[in-house]
Amino acid sequence: MTNQHPRLGEVLAAIDAGFDASVDRLSDILRIPSISTDPAHDADVRTAAAWFADELRALGFTSEVVATAGHPVVFAERPAPTSDAPTILYYGHYDVQPADPLEQWNSPPFEPVVVDDAEGGRIVARGAVDDKGQVMTFIDAFRAWVETTGDIPVGIRIMLEGEEESGSESLEAFLDEHASRLAADVCVVSDTGMWNAETPAITTMLRGMVYIEAEIRGPGHDLHSGMYGGAIANPANVMARVVASLHRDDGSVAVPGFYDGVEDPPDSVLDQWKGLGFDEAGFLASAGIAAASGGESGRTMLERTWSRPTLDVNGIHGGYTGAGAKTIIPATCTAKISCRLVPGQDPVAIEAALRDFISARIPAEFSVEFLNHGMNPAVVVPADSPWLSAAKTGLAAAYDAPAAVIGTGGSIPAVGDIQAKLGIDALLVGFGLDDDRVHSPNEKFDLRCLRGGIKSHAGMIAAFATHRTS
Ligand code: BES
Ligand code: MN
Ligand code: MN
Repeated sequence: MTNQHPRLGEVLAAIDAGFDASVDRLSDILRIPSISTDPAHDADVRTAAAWFADELRALGFTSEVVATAGHPVVFAERPAPTSDAPTILYYGHYDVQPADPLEQWNSPPFEPVVVDDAEGGRIVARGAVDDKGQVMTFIDAFRAWVETTGDIPVGIRIMLEGEEESGSESLEAFLDEHASRLAADVCVVSDTGMWNAETPAITTMLRGMVYIEAEIRGPGHDLHSGMYGGAIANPANVMARVVASLHRDDGSVAVPGFYDGVEDPPDSVLDQWKGLGFDEAGFLASAGIAAASGGESGRTMLERTWSRPTLDVNGIHGGYTGAGAKTIIPATCTAKISCRLVPGQDPVAIEAALRDFISARIPAEFSVEFLNHGMNPAVVVPADSPWLSAAKTGLAAAYDAPAAVIGTGGSIPAVGDIQAKLGIDALLVGFGLDDDRVHSPNEKFDLRCLRGGIKSHAGMIAAFATHRTS
């Protein structure tokens, strides 16, 4: 290991010695159902923010819960020990996705349990890996540095968001308003995955998103389908036809202009991806299905999930969805549709094209109303920065295998905003695994990933500390 801080070994030993307490603390925060999209949980979201602010204050940070137009941001800082040490901004989110369908959980989503398994155990709860467990990887690395050496060898600023899972709508204004307090040399984010349990990863591409909801309205109220069927157009039938026309037979998206600006990654990147040795069987197993027939034909799995844009229906509702039969022509039908975007695509143009596509395909006597649930462009992080090299060095404190440089299909709206508004690069180093059931029932975080994540952050701090800024 190069550039090793003289006290890193002690810090790593302290992480092992304190690991049971780390699991207990993570369990405490997982008990708070901070579901950002559901107003019924607004108080829980505030409680979770206060929990993190208190935790950081106890570690010697100046820490506060800052109000926004939506859910608050937890902001904390600790000055750099010397004027030439770098300052690192850490980003994570303390909100979680809704837990439904509840009946599919083997234990209640907000009553975390540690389950023993062949991999050294896992903690199961909503938010275990996304993102509370990952936020704890850097907080507990800070703790180990402070408790072992009395200090942290870099300046630290922390921004924990409460709206990531609902589109980060208040974050841009927060970044504008507090830009000077957020100034840093680089932003470290732990909200992505490892390549596999033995191989850490640095993610350099995130897809963007456009999310709309379309409600089409036909007759003034639900109608008897015997009296009116055959004469009055059925909004559910129409929605099915519209949805079916969104893709071509080859799996590509049929919305005009959808692929404008989309380019293939350079051959060097595609070759590097081939060299990663993607575990297709493991990926399919993590999804609980035998084959991957979705998406564009003629593309590799990594292209389809990392560098190609997609369009998916996230939900359709309308008409009678209760038990048994009810013979109606529903008055309305709604579809929630999200697109994952890649570099080159303009979210505003995609949203307009999608609205036009739907509007043009409903009968003249119908109406349609659109809601927007978020728009953010794709993000690319430079793969050749000195911070990325430092992160690789730091990760070697926790893992024998060198870090893989990867893409991901998911989105983190804050990352693009941070790069644009604060003018700093992001470094995406996450510790999730493909089988963590992110956003699904029985979400989990392997304890080996929690431990490895904490050690990784401790190691990265040591490596960052060798970068002098003046
Ligand atoms: N942590 C995820 C993003 C992610 C998932 C990265 C899997 C890598 C692998 C994040 O919390 C998330 O779920 N983002 C949303 C964003 C949306 C609500 C705007 C997503 O990707 O759906
Ligand atoms: Mn997340
Ligand atoms: Mn998420």
